[in-house]
Amino acid sequence: MNLPYSEPFKIKMVENIYRSTKDQREKWIREASFNLFNLRSEQVYIDLLTDSGTGAMSDKQWASIMTGDESYAGASSYYHLKEAIRELTGFDYFLPTHQGRAAENVLFSVLVKAGDIVPGNSHFDTTKGHIEFRNASAVDCTVDRASDTTSHDPFKGNIDTGKLEKVLKENPADKISCIILTITNNTVGGQPVSMANIKEVSKLSKKYGVRLIIDSARFAENAYFIKTREEGYADKDIRDITREIFSYADGMTMSSKKDAIVNTGGFIGFRDEELFRQASTYNIIFEGFITYGGMSGRDMNALAQGLYEGTEFPYLESRIKQVAYLGQKMKEYGIPVLEPFGGHAIFIDAKRFVPDFPKEEFPAQTLALEFYIEGGIRGAEIGALMADRDPFTRANRYPALEMVRLALPRRVYSNNHMDYVAAVVRNVFEKRNEIRKGFKIVWEAPIMRHFTLKLDRV
Ligand SMILES: Cc1ncc(COP(=O)(O)O)c(C=O)c1O
Repeated sequence: MNLPYSEPFKIKMVENIYRSTKDQREKWIREASFNLFNLRSEQVYIDLLTDSGTGAMSDKQWASIMTGDESYAGASSYYHLKEAIRELTGFDYFLPTHQGRAAENVLFSVLVKAGDIVPGNSHFDTTKGHIEFRNASAVDCTVDRASDTTSHDPFKGNIDTGKLEKVLKENPADKISCIILTITNNTVGGQPVSMANIKEVSKLSKKYGVRLIIDSARFAENAYFIKTREEGYADKDIRDITREIFSYADGMTMSSKKDAIVNTGGFIGFRDEELFRQASTYNIIFEGFITYGGMSGRDMNALAQGLYEGTEFPYLESRIKQVAYLGQKMKEYGIPVLEPFGGHAIFIDAKRFVPDFPKEEFPAQTLALEFYIEGGIRGAEIGALMADRDPFTRANRYPALEMVRLALPRRVYSNNHMDYVAAVVRNVFEKRNEIRKGFKIVWEAPIMRHFTLKLDRV
């Protein structure tokens, strides 16, 4: 009989968490203006708001922190990180940044001008924010099947190359800043992009003379899916796969807070020395000198170690199978979840959970709040609130997918926690017919509103 997967690590240190009462949570969430971002972490029992920066570092990462070199210029920690990045991506040039959106800010300062367009596959919200902030437009070319939460296609994160080629054909190359390919595609459910698709997108980028940049926050999880789902990759090492992925690109932005399992950090990788030089100026203005740019030496050490640990197959297997464990439990309870299960999160389909709920009252946010009140779980709305307003018409955007994302921090929670989470969602699902009223916005910021907005019951 095959043995089940299990974690390739044991626990050395624990952090206590506390279960509150429903009455306490009802009070706290009202005080937080019904925005889960406004809660204090002690008011949350199981925090699945994000997998970003919330992972548990290993003993080797903590040990590397002690040997960080804090020299302003030319620190050994910088060279250590440079070597890890070169080994996993093949990029010779890189700039450290304090997190992923800082990498976007620096790179887009060179590439994106007002009036430009930036095609991609469901740009992440900060990516879109940086594009729209520069009065440029993000054009979504994701495959249509990505918005069907019941389609079992193994690579629903892909770009539709027909849609992409139309954009590239109809616009002059100097109006297209770059193509952004996000792996895995977070916004449509942590869905992977196939190597075949990466190759095809790369071919188009060369044919039309437009750079291909990979938003790489979850590149290792994407490589795991290529290994386990795509023909010809089963026997390849994860790092051979990551090197092949990046061999098709001109550059990458990275939020190291995800697959590199550190609590903060990011970087940009470049093939072209000239682009690296241009971006270096912005890095110095916004982040710091080019050999530390927003990171301390100790953080760069932990990141280098995390990049190696995050690309080990046994770790990736335990990570992705834990996500699937939660998804499977929910399915057994009849809860409508996006399939195939994503790499970093389970996405609950609000449109199927509460089918007749008015979209103007934010069904996914309403459910996320119900899960919190029921059991102290904090998830995130990935729906109309996050989709924000159209920057030109200011009308609310209602995306095809209206979901609650339960993102799993890496190496943090046990499967007992997963059982608890599934049971909380089941309890809400059983009383779904009583959920009739949603929320209205009482205050919002002009851009990226979901982080800070205030809501009230309708
Ligand atoms: C796909 C993707 N790109 C970029 C970012 C931005 O990274 P950061 O949060 O480190 O600024 C994120 C963060 O969640 C992400 O998921």
